[in-house]
Amino acid sequence: MLSPRQIAPWRRTFEACGQRFHLRRGVFDPARHLSGVAFAEALPHVIETQQIELGTVVDVGTGSGVLAAVVAPIAQHVIATDIDPRAVRCAAENLAGLDVEVRLGDLFEPLGIHERVDLVIANPPYEIGDGDHRYTSPDLLRRLAEQWATYGDHLLLGFPADDAASLDFVGFDVHLVEEIPTAGRPLGIYRGDAPCAG
Ligand SMILES: C[S@@+](CC[C@H](N)C(=O)[O-])C[C@H]1O[C@@H](n2cnc3c(N)ncnc32)[C@H](O)[C@@H]1O
Repeated sequence: MLSPRQIAPWRRTFEACGQRFHLRRGVFDPARHLSGVAFAEALPHVIETQQIELGTVVDVGTGSGVLAAVVAPIAQHVIATDIDPRAVRCAAENLAGLDVEVRLGDLFEPLGIHERVDLVIANPPYEIGDGDHRYTSPDLLRRLAEQWATYGDHLLLGFPADDAASLDFVGFDVHLVEEIPTAGRPLGIYRGDAPCAG
């Protein structure tokens, strides 16, 4: 007999930018944590006002695929990566029919050594753990700060606007281009430009 999980693999759905997304168990919920949906809804406008020309995009840590889904219609090609196989599966389901390749792996590892994109987008994990044991992940942020410009010309990073000091601490050379109030912490969208970008 099928277990309830086999019959109904979707935990719940959420809406962003007029689209409905499914969530699998264990995948980051951008509606509950607010930053994901806020970032997704602001992204097309930020790309336009920042005059970032979109050919190719990589969405690092794609989760449900919400950011990749929003940029897919305005980009030539999108690659979405995540280290969690559950997220990769969930994103692939949500992104079916769009020109998005979903790849499993750590940060930029799924990209080929000569693969370079116009824009890197990332809403990295900020708090890990539950209840009293929440902590930030400086190692992941530090690696993202070190590596992104090897793979992309521009970066749009979602991060709490009231904690720019952490970005500075891990070595990001970025500036705030948009601050979005949410019911929780304000979301900052930070821009970085690779030294070699045109
Ligand atoms: C805060 S969630 C954001 C998900 C989605 N981009 C959004 O905005 O809703 C961060 C995502 O990064 C993924 N992640 C964590 N560490 C990673 C790593 N080293 N490489 C790639 N993805 C990673 C997590 O699995 C998670 O899906």
